[in-house]
Amino acid sequence: MKIDDLVINTEMKIANGCNAAEIFPGVFNNCKVAVKRVAKHVSKTEMEMANFLSSKNVQAEHLLQHMSVLEDPYFAYFVSPLCEYSLMELIENKDFPERKSLIENRRLEICQEFLQGLQELHSHGILHRDLKPENILFDINNKLYIADFGASRKLDLAQTTLLSQMAGSFSWSSYEDVGGMQYKYKKESDIQVAGCLVYYILTDGQHPYQTTTPYSKDPIGLSQNVRMGFTGTTNNNTNDRTHTADCCPQTSDEMDILENTDSDKPESVCSDVMDSSSHTEEELYESEMVIRGKLHDRVMNNA
Ligand SMILES: Nc1ncnc2c1ncn2[C@@H]1O[C@H](COP(=O)(O)OP(=O)(O)O)[C@@H](O)[C@H]1O
Ligand SMILES: [Mg+2]
Repeated sequence: MKIDDLVINTEMKIANGCNAAEIFPGVFNNCKVAVKRVAKHVSKTEMEMANFLSSKNVQAEHLLQHMSVLEDPYFAYFVSPLCEYSLMELIENKDFPERKSLIENRRLEICQEFLQGLQELHSHGILHRDLKPENILFDINNKLYIADFGASRKLDLAQTTLLSQMAGSFSWSSYEDVGGMQYKYKKESDIQVAGCLVYYILTDGQHPYQTTTPYSKDPIGLSQNVRMGFTGTTNNNTNDRTHTADCCPQTSDEMDILENTDSDKPESVCSDVMDSSSHTEEELYESEMVIRGKLHDRVMNNA
């Protein structure tokens, strides 16, 4: 299929994304690209963010900026340089060829590029809000890019936090994602998740808050540990627990903003909650209520 200068190979899908997004290979101005096709009505905020990030003012080494965003009557098409593999494939697929060169120095280099990318994003006042191994990609030269700004939001000048419901996945949540309505997402929330990802890179796939190995077998338990400030699989002594409130003092200059996009609806949360077969219905219900409570309180606050 062809739209302006973009040719998309819809026969060869690269991946499925959230909100029924599909990612296809393509060619744009003689470059190999990936094209994320999403229904227009759920991509308004992502389009604004993509246009902002690809503007000339945003110079970044390690952010996967879009080359173009095209539209037809039904879909938005996000065009980005084609990457070869994700951090998740590199760390979790033990047969992955690139793992041959995954010595300690390479792991440190990956951490450094990732943290530089996050600094670049934050320096433009943008919170990523969905950092996870699937959203960190590498090109053919093994250069790292932070990708997927579908959940990202820009802070206004003087604003340091954002009142919003959980945007990312349970396994890669911050205190503010799971702590309840009084917690607002801020740069430190991204940085906390970044710390967990650094741990994941350096330990070859462990998550500091995991309850099982691999961490992805129990995302709800993991997010409950994040909520309680409780690390590791062996620490079951409840006296050692630090509550979220102790870990995460609030800043005095917080400001709430109303997010009114369709992509913020609860069903758009790209979570791995469905894998949580080891949890009771009460636990699943409680976790869902934390997230839904955030949405409810937001609506009431803005009523
Ligand atoms: N530029 C790209 N090159 C190669 N693969 C990509 C590219 N962009 C996305 N993908 C693949 O598609 C997946 C989903 O894309 P993403 O933008 O993260 O969408 P979603 O918001 O639905 O998670 C990624 O995890 C990655 O595997
Ligand atoms: Mg993604």
